[in-house]
Amino acid sequence: MVEQEITLDQVVSLSKRRGFIFQSSEIYGGMGACWDYGPLGVELKQNVKTCWWDYMVRARENVVGMDGSILMHPEVWVASGHVDGFHDPMSDCKECKARIRPDQFTVVEVRDEKGKVVETASFETEDPEAAVKECREKFRKELRRLSEPSFITHRMEERLGPCPYCGGELTEPRQFNLMFKTHVGAVEGEGSEVYLRPETAQAIFVNFRNIQQTTRQRIPFGIAQIGKAFRNEIVTKAFIFRSREFEQMEMQFFIPPEEDEKWYQYWKDLRMRYYSEVLGVSSKRLRWEPHPADKLAHYAKAAADIVYDFPMGWQEIEGVHNRGDFDLSQHASHSGKDMSYRDPVTNRTYVPKVIETSAGVDRCVLMLLCSAYSELEEIGEGHKRDTRTVLQFHPRVAPTMVAVFPLSKKTELVEPSHRLEAELRGDGFRTAFDVTGAIGKRYRRQDEVGTPFCVTFDFDSLQDGAVTIRHRDTMEQDRVALDKVAEVLRTKMKSWDGNIG
Ligand code: GAP
Repeated sequence: MVEQEITLDQVVSLSKRRGFIFQSSEIYGGMGACWDYGPLGVELKQNVKTCWWDYMVRARENVVGMDGSILMHPEVWVASGHVDGFHDPMSDCKECKARIRPDQFTVVEVRDEKGKVVETASFETEDPEAAVKECREKFRKELRRLSEPSFITHRMEERLGPCPYCGGELTEPRQFNLMFKTHVGAVEGEGSEVYLRPETAQAIFVNFRNIQQTTRQRIPFGIAQIGKAFRNEIVTKAFIFRSREFEQMEMQFFIPPEEDEKWYQYWKDLRMRYYSEVLGVSSKRLRWEPHPADKLAHYAKAAADIVYDFPMGWQEIEGVHNRGDFDLSQHASHSGKDMSYRDPVTNRTYVPKVIETSAGVDRCVLMLLCSAYSELEEIGEGHKRDTRTVLQFHPRVAPTMVAVFPLSKKTELVEPSHRLEAELRGDGFRTAFDVTGAIGKRYRRQDEVGTPFCVTFDFDSLQDGAVTIRHRDTMEQDRVALDKVAEVLRTKMKSWDGNIG
C-alpha cells in the first residue's frame, strides 16, 4: 500500500462527494461538530466497531460485553469526578472574538542578547520545540537583525500570551465543564437535571458487581462496551476528529491491586499491534505518547495515547489508562454499596484495580480514510498519464468488498450478474452492483470508495462460464470460473495482510 502526503481537505471532499459523511442538519446551515454518516460511512464505521468487538470480546473468554444507557443517575458523575473535574480552560480574544483552549497553545518570547523581549507570539502546539520552530519561521525577517536571539517558551495555561490569530488581548481563562445537561420528566427544575454521558466507562464501573456475579467471571477479566458519548467541546475542528457527539469503544480490565503494571504493559502491547494487524494501518504512522505526570486525567495513575500521523499532525486515537481503584472506590463510597471482590480460591477480598483501553470510533474512521487515501498514477489511453483516486482500505474494513458488473445492460448479462452478486452476498461478502456507464468509469467509482475487487461478467462468460476479477490496487485481472469466484476472493483477502508495512 502506498502512503502519501495528503491534506484533510482531500479527505473531507471525498467523504462528502461519495456519501461517507455529511454535516449534521446541513440544510439548516449545519450543527457544529455533529456529523451524519451516509451509506458508505456507516458501513465503514460498522466495520470499525465489528473488528474491535471481535478482537476484544468474541476472541477472549475473559472479556464480556455490555450496553449501558446514555442517561445515568447524576450522582454517578459526582462520584466519577466529572462534575468537579471534567473542565477545559477557555479564553476569548477581545479583538477578533476567537475562542481558544489555552492548554493547547505555547507562548514564545524572543529576546535579544541583553535579555530584552523583542517579540511574543502564541502557537497552536503543546510541544515547545515545534513552537520555537514556528516562531523562527514567523519572525524570520526580524531575527536577522538580532545577533544572539534566545527563545523562552511557556505553556499558555500558565501565562497568557497574545491571541494566536490576530495578536489581540485574551480574556483570563475560565474553566468550562464539558458535560451536556438535560432534564428528565415533564417538569424542569431541581432534581430533574441529568447529564449526557461524557464517557461510556462509568456504565461499566457501576455494573461491575452485576456482571461479575451473573457471569461468574474471575479476576482478571474485562467488560467492554461500544456506545455514544457527548462532550460540549470548546474548540472543534479537523472534521470528525473532535465532535460533540461521538462513539467510544472502551474496555475496563479488572485486576488484583499488585498486578497493574503487568496488565498495563500487556494491554498497551496488544492495542498497538491491533491497528496494523487488524485494521491494516501502517505501523510507521502510529506511535505512543505517554502523558506526563502533571497532565494525567483526574482518575489516572499512568496513561499513554496511541497517536496517528494525521494530515493535521500526530493526534490521539486511543488512550490506555491505569485507573487504579479510583472509580470502584468512589462508587462504593458514594452509593454505599460494596464494590469489592472476593477471590474464591484464596478468600482474599479487595477492590480491584482497572486497566482501561479507550478508543474513538470516529477517530478510527478518520484515520482509516486518511491512511487509505491515495492518488495513483496510471497510463491511460494513448499513453496519457492519468491519476485515479483510490481508498486503499483493507478488505476487512472496506464498506464494499466486491462489486459485480455486467459488461452491458443486455438482459442476458444482467441476469446472471445479479445471480452472482446475490450468491456472493449470501456467502458473507459485502457487495455492490453497478450497470451504469463505461466499465472504466465503473472501476474508478469503486476505486474511489475503496472496493478491493470488481468482478465483470462479459459476453465470453456466457460461453466459458468464467468472469474477470480486477484487483483495485494493482489493476491486475484474473479470469476465474464462476463457481470458484468466492473461493478465489477469499484467498486473495487472506493474503492481504502480507502487504502492510
Ligand atoms: N474513559 C476514558 C476516556 O474517555 P478520553 O481520552 O477522554 O478517555 C478516549 O477519550 C477516546 O475517545 C479518545 O482517544 C478519542 O479517540 C475519543 N474521543 C474523546 N473525545 C472525543 C471527541 N470530542 N470527538 C471524537 N472522539 C473523541
